[in-house]
Amino acid sequence: MAIKTVLRMGDARLWQRSEPVGRFDTPELHQLLADMRDTMHALNGAGLAAPQIGVGLRVVIFGVQRNERYPDAEGVPDTVLINPLINPLGNSMEEGWEGCLSVPGLRGMVPRHAQIRYQGRDEYGALIDRTVSGFHARVVQHECDHLDGILYPMRIRDFTKFGYNQELFPGREMLDE
Ligand code: NI
Repeated sequence: MAIKTVLRMGDARLWQRSEPVGRFDTPELHQLLADMRDTMHALNGAGLAAPQIGVGLRVVIFGVQRNERYPDAEGVPDTVLINPLINPLGNSMEEGWEGCLSVPGLRGMVPRHAQIRYQGRDEYGALIDRTVSGFHARVVQHECDHLDGILYPMRIRDFTKFGYNQELFPGREMLDE
C-alpha cells in the first residue's frame, strides 16, 4: 500500500500539462497505478489523475460502484485510461455537481458535454473506445481536465452554486473526483 499525498488547488503542479505515456506494461506504470488506486480508495474518490499525486503523465483512473449512499451516481466501470482523447458527440451540455480530491470539502455546479466518445489505452496498451453519457461522461471529462491543468472551479459559470459540502448538502456524504 502506498497512499500518496493528493496535491491541493494552488499547488503549481496541478496547472501543468501532463506528458503522454510512451511505454506500457512496465513496472513503473504498474507501480504508479497501484499508488493511484490505493490513494483513491483511501479517500473514497470516484476518480484520480496522476498529476494529483505529483506525476505529470496522462494517466487517470475512475470507477463508481452503484451505492445506496449515492443514489444520484450511476455505476461507472473501474477503468484505467492512458493518453485519452475525448470527442464530444453533439452540442448538448449538462450541469451537474462535482467535487475533487484536490479541492476538498467543496462542490460546484459544472457544465459538461452530455455525450462523449473517449479513446485511450489501458496499462497493457490495449485500446479503449467507449461512447458514454451522463455521470460516466462527466467523470471522464473531469479526470481528463486534470491532464491539461484544469480544475473544475475553472469551469463554473454560476458561483452561487459553488460552496462547502456541509452548507450545500447538510448531512450527506459526497463522492469526490
Ligand atoms: Ni478532480
